[in-house]
Amino acid sequence: MVNNPALRSSREYSLQGMTALSATLALVFFLILSIPVTSLAAVTGPCVNCHTMHNSQGGSAMATYGADGKPWKGTSPLPALTRGTCLGCHGYGGAQKIVTIGGSGIPQVYHTDGSDLAGGNFAYILGAKGSGASDAKGHNVKDIVDSDDVLDAAPGLMPASGHSSIITDTNLTCAGYIGCHGNRYQAIGTGVAALKGAHHGNVDGVCDTADTVANSYRFLLGVKGLENTGASKWQNASSGDHNEYFGATTPMNVSCANTCHLTGGVQPPNKTISGFCATCHGQFHDQTEIGGTSSPFKRHPTDIRIKNEGEYAVSLRTYNPGAPVGRTSVYGAPSSAVTADDVVTCLSCHAAHATNYPDLLRWDYTTMIAGGGSNTTGCFTCHTQKDNP
Ligand code: HEC
Ligand code: HEC
Ligand code: HEC
Ligand code: HEC
Ligand code: HEC
Repeated sequence: MVNNPALRSSREYSLQGMTALSATLALVFFLILSIPVTSLAAVTGPCVNCHTMHNSQGGSAMATYGADGKPWKGTSPLPALTRGTCLGCHGYGGAQKIVTIGGSGIPQVYHTDGSDLAGGNFAYILGAKGSGASDAKGHNVKDIVDSDDVLDAAPGLMPASGHSSIITDTNLTCAGYIGCHGNRYQAIGTGVAALKGAHHGNVDGVCDTADTVANSYRFLLGVKGLENTGASKWQNASSGDHNEYFGATTPMNVSCANTCHLTGGVQPPNKTISGFCATCHGQFHDQTEIGGTSSPFKRHPTDIRIKNEGEYAVSLRTYNPGAPVGRTSVYGAPSSAVTADDVVTCLSCHAAHATNYPDLLRWDYTTMIAGGGSNTTGCFTCHTQKDNP
């Protein structure tokens, strides 16, 4: 007879042995503790949902999470004794953008749901969703696709870094020193080991410290921001219901020592999302490479204030989750307002994982037509008057 604990709900466990009084007290404490917006939203549920002690039960492997037919479907034991790799848990490959095991919802990065989570959806690269497979639609992490047809290294990688043979299309992975999430420190390697401690220590909502993986925005070490914890958790659902990205008013001077290799692993010292992208795409952010800190620029600026004048005037703009502005302080709640302090970020135009459009853009660049009349999306979110015929 099969008695699979993985099928029991975590509620069943957490409520066991709790008297009515202690439940009331717990509720009171919960309410008191939930006043600050920063909260712990660690993984919950029976250990067996996510871990295997020996990778064996009844003689069969247990580290088998992952979509059927996909290279990331597991068999081998993993660090932290997890039952899957990153994609084993985050890439079920089904129709749901959030998969729930036990009590924990797992945000999905490879799925066919109608809408995507804020980071995007790697399914566009393989064509499981969207207008057809294309390497140009996203970050070709090796866990999903072996290489990029066109790009061999990160475009804009600072040449002096000498990393063009390390940060390549064939090496890029989810986490660790050739990845984005977790501790990017060579000695720790890649994969689950680079996140050790983050899932059980996850700080949800306001991430304004960002000195550990767990308290950084989306486990991106050193990045600040506000994680959407509302009904649309992990999503940029509408102008009032979204993540808030952190930015600055001056782009960095990118260099190996100053902007990447800080104590504790690679991370951006200005704690912005654009500074984070610049750890691999430095030339697209660096002050000198973009032509200084004020117009005219040589490359589109990021971590630059959107002036409250001309076509950029606050009165002409609206908050558009399809071309989000960055904020220069970490907001306590998502806001639908644009302000004179807002800045441009890499994520104003790009998503992080993959989209349905070339260059990982948030929208179809071929529809951005000057003088075309009444377009308020994409480039026109900020360049509000370039649509005027
Ligand atoms: C919903 C999934 C999930 C559940 C349930 C879960 N864990 Fe984990 N745990 C993880 C993941 C993922 C990692 C590896 C990555 C990390 O540390 O962030 C991990 C890492 C760990 C680690 C090493 C890092 C650390 O935080 O100390 C320990 C120890 C651990 N888990 C113990 C447990 C125990 C004991 C239980 C049951 C009481 C449990 N876990 C339940 C997902 C889960
Ligand atoms: C055993 C399953 C499991 C594995 C393996 C796993 N995760 Fe997770 N992950 C989860 C769950 C469950 C959550 C949701 C936690 C919560 O509700 O805050 C999560 C949340 C996250 C988040 C969102 C954190 C936030 O701020 O909301 C990121 C980013 C993430 N995981 C990255 C990774 C990466 C990268 C790897 C591989 C190195 C990985 N995970 C491996 C189960 C897993
Ligand atoms: C760990 C290094 C690393 C980080 C951090 C990183 N990238 Fe990349 N990126 C790469 C590599 C390598 C490629 C080339 C291979 C590929 O397309 O996956 C690439 C390619 C791209 C492309 C072109 C995709 C294509 O196939 O044409 C875009 C756009 C991009 N990155 C944007 C970003 C943005 C935005 C961020 C920050 C949210 C970011 N990158 C952070 C390594 C990185
Ligand atoms: C989030 C807001 C935002 C979005 C979206 C945006 N821009 Fe910009 N853009 C700016 C700001 C701010 C400047 C700098 C203006 C200044 O300081 O004079 C700028 C400057 C420019 C410049 C002139 C550079 C210079 O030397 O002054 C061009 C050209 C440009 N953007 C094109 C585009 C195109 C094309 C798109 C869409 C692919 C786009 N922008 C999307 C905010 C944005
Ligand atoms: C104003 C919108 C906008 C912003 C902001 C922006 N990009 Fe782009 N990005 C584009 C467009 C459009 C392209 C297509 C190529 C081009 O026009 O140069 C592109 C292309 C890329 C590519 C692919 C280059 C190649 O050779 O294939 C990378 C990588 C990239 N961007 C990274 C970044 C990073 C990193 C940042 C922040 C530092 C950033 N972008 C900010 C609009 C933007």
